[in-house]
Amino acid sequence: MKILLLLSSTFTFLHTISSSSSNTTFICKTDHDCRLNGLCSLTTSTCICDPGWTSPTCGALDLLPATLGTGYNKTSFNASSWGSKIIHDPSNSLLFHLFLAGFTHQCGLDYWSPYSRIVHATSLEGPAGPYEFHSEVVGTFAHNPTVIWSPADEKWLLYYIGCPQSVNATCTSPSFSCGPGNFINGESGISVLSSEDLYSWTPHGQVMSGMNDGAWDADITNPSPHPLGRKGEMLLVYRGCPFNCSGNELISLSTAPSFLGPYTKLSSPIFPESNEDPFVWQDKRGNWHMLLHSLEPDGGFGSGPMVGRHAFAEKLEGEWTFDAETLAFSAVVEFQGGEVREFYRRERPQLFFSEDAEMKPLFLMTGVQEVGSEMSYSLIQPIEGAREWEQALGI
Ligand SMILES: *[C@@H]1O[C@H](CO)[C@@H](O)[C@H](O)[C@H]1NC(C)=O
Ligand SMILES: *[C@@H]1O[C@H](CO)[C@@H](O)[C@H](O)[C@H]1NC(C)=O
Ligand SMILES: *[C@@H]1O[C@H](CO)[C@@H](O)[C@H](O)[C@H]1NC(C)=O
Ligand SMILES: *[C@@H]1O[C@H](CO)[C@@H](O)[C@H](O)[C@H]1NC(C)=O
Ligand SMILES: *[C@@H]1O[C@H](CO)[C@@H](O)[C@H](O)[C@H]1NC(C)=O
Repeated sequence: MKILLLLSSTFTFLHTISSSSSNTTFICKTDHDCRLNGLCSLTTSTCICDPGWTSPTCGALDLLPATLGTGYNKTSFNASSWGSKIIHDPSNSLLFHLFLAGFTHQCGLDYWSPYSRIVHATSLEGPAGPYEFHSEVVGTFAHNPTVIWSPADEKWLLYYIGCPQSVNATCTSPSFSCGPGNFINGESGISVLSSEDLYSWTPHGQVMSGMNDGAWDADITNPSPHPLGRKGEMLLVYRGCPFNCSGNELISLSTAPSFLGPYTKLSSPIFPESNEDPFVWQDKRGNWHMLLHSLEPDGGFGSGPMVGRHAFAEKLEGEWTFDAETLAFSAVVEFQGGEVREFYRRERPQLFFSEDAEMKPLFLMTGVQEVGSEMSYSLIQPIEGAREWEQALGI
């Protein structure tokens, strides 16, 4: 009965999505109307989307069915994980690295704090994996990892949140702090590691701390860095919320002369909608984009499928446009063979791009939790063009 109900609500949702994507009345006037993910044809007034994007507005990722058993899914061992970032090995074209949050002691998603630690996994089977555990990069408590290459520093940088915490074998959530901004779950404060080879990491400590004051972003987390200039300047997008995260979760950005800081924040959130888990990138035309985990009423933490939003800007300092109309991705995932699953939670989006000048999005990484399960895992879903890219690589 439960399954029937779930299926029927899934199909209603898919129907809604497909009827809005066949909205032939959408008329664009500028590339901005096409979410900066395509160009507005002046002859037809319709959007011509860049590879990887679709819908009349180009605001939706052109997702392909995922393959069961790929990604990093250790739930058959009762081991939960969350989020992930794919890195293509620079010297072995068939080797892929995955940096993710993996939880110790078989503790489920509710115990992410303090049981999360940073895991390095590897795969020789393509960007979607499946991946196998390679090593622990940072022990409990360490969460929200993301890895970028900094051309100016000629180093890999791993940004994360957390601070050392010993944990009990029985899953509990004791109150602790990793610095200003949060005394409940240690989420506030962003740290960095650097590496020349992805295996050996040098810690640089916390580079951006929260505040014990009344600021809207006293509590800072969810780092998303992006290299800016030739001299090593760094952009760091983050999610802020009031002290102890006792209010709205909003997105803003900060910049620093070097990855080590000091990071200077913009004074306000870049749009008023509640979101977390930003993932920022600059496209082939120089425009800025981010994917987000939306906290809207039909999304958020298991409240509905509307989980994946997109925001974009011509200039980093803004104005940023939050796309509340076209959903970038939802909690509904189609698998090869035709199975459709609506996840309870789907968060922490990150993208893997083609390495040429086109910068096509090829894979979407998210953390997912199935309905009725305490456990979570790292799902990797291909985007249109992924198979051709793999074939060209010889996979
Ligand atoms: C269809 O496009 C029109 C024109 O842009 C817009 O006003 C309307 O809200 C869209 N409808 C849906 C269901 O997306
Ligand atoms: C993840 O693993 C669980 C347990 O083996 C399995 O039930 C589930 O289908 C897997 N999910 C995917 C997407 O492969
Ligand atoms: C996973 O947890 C279940 C329920 O506690 C238990 O019965 C099972 O033995 C565990 N499996 C493993 C591989 O530890
Ligand atoms: C470990 O468990 C004990 C007893 O339940 C509790 O008092 C303590 O706070 C826990 N410590 C941690 C680090 O979880
Ligand atoms: C933050 O949480 C801690 C632990 O629950 C509590 O002691 C403190 O009063 C809270 N501070 C604020 C400003 O809410």
